[in-house]
Amino acid sequence: MIDLRSDTVTRPTAGMREAMATAEVGDDVYAEDPTVTALEAEVAALFGHEAALFAPSGSMANQIALQLLVPPGDELLCDADAHVVTYEIGAAAVYGGISSRTWPAVGAQIDPDVVAGMIRPDGYFAVPTRAIAVEQTHNRGGGGVIPLSTLRELRRVADDHELALHCDGARIWHAHVADGVPLAEYGALFDTLSVCLSKGLGAPVGSLVVGSAERIARARFIRKRMGGGMRQVGVLAAAGRYALAHHVQRLAEDHAKAARLAEAVAPHGVLATAARTNIVPLDLTKHPLDAKALAAAAREQGVLISVLGPRTARLVTHLDVSDAEVDRAAEVLTTLLRA
Ligand SMILES: Cc1ncc(COP(=O)(O)O)c(C=O)c1O
Repeated sequence: MIDLRSDTVTRPTAGMREAMATAEVGDDVYAEDPTVTALEAEVAALFGHEAALFAPSGSMANQIALQLLVPPGDELLCDADAHVVTYEIGAAAVYGGISSRTWPAVGAQIDPDVVAGMIRPDGYFAVPTRAIAVEQTHNRGGGGVIPLSTLRELRRVADDHELALHCDGARIWHAHVADGVPLAEYGALFDTLSVCLSKGLGAPVGSLVVGSAERIARARFIRKRMGGGMRQVGVLAAAGRYALAHHVQRLAEDHAKAARLAEAVAPHGVLATAARTNIVPLDLTKHPLDAKALAAAAREQGVLISVLGPRTARLVTHLDVSDAEVDRAAEVLTTLLRA
């Protein structure tokens, strides 16, 4: 099977497995795992922040960050398609007592004035807005990259209203490679970031929350409360360190593969937006096949794709799809779309 459903389907490479097998470990709940500590220091430094905390998943990393920034009963603003309100099954409300309000989903195209207009002024028992969250790159927004200028504007909006700014940076590595923006430049714009090792970077598990030393000390408590305190987890941190050393710059290859797939399907009028990174968003509104039918027919021919809605689907390139497999997938999909 050629699996284009997600970049989470990758398996650890031989080099990564070797790094895991030989990792030095300790009890990380006592903060005594040297490989975890090294990974946390490395990631904090990459983003120019004081500290970072290893977490089992991107969802937990996001939710720890949101609990750091928004007290119970107060409000988070994000877009309607954001992972934090779409795929984290109400965690902000359940674990943090956080109220979320969304601006209409436009993926990576954000109008900072619209966001500013949503911030609640102090007033009669109004829910206080405390934080804004954005997603870089934007998953449901077709892997779109939020321009640096927009992020700077959002930082200004947040500062003007004394709000915190969080980045769900599960795929911030892709934005860094696509736009050439240094990770530290992104880091400087946010109070907290969550970054994933288990998406495009190909590690089996792991995300980090990045922020100030004071926030990350609190994050350690929140992680433990959520059941995310882990013991000899250096075996997983070693996979992450290997991924950072070997799998960041190669993301450009995944972007090129996505561009090839996008170019192949574009003549059939199903490309939702340009493929900026490793995601090819399909819009089948005007096509006789709906998303489920296309996915089922592609599966018959050995190609797996994601169904996101009745007429929306997604192809994702990653470490485990070769150039030849991309060509084969393009052939299968174009044949089905032509029929
Ligand atoms: C943008 C984004 N944020 C967060 C996550 C959550 O990561 P996890 O599946 O590790 O909880 C994902 C997962 O695909 C994602 O795409």
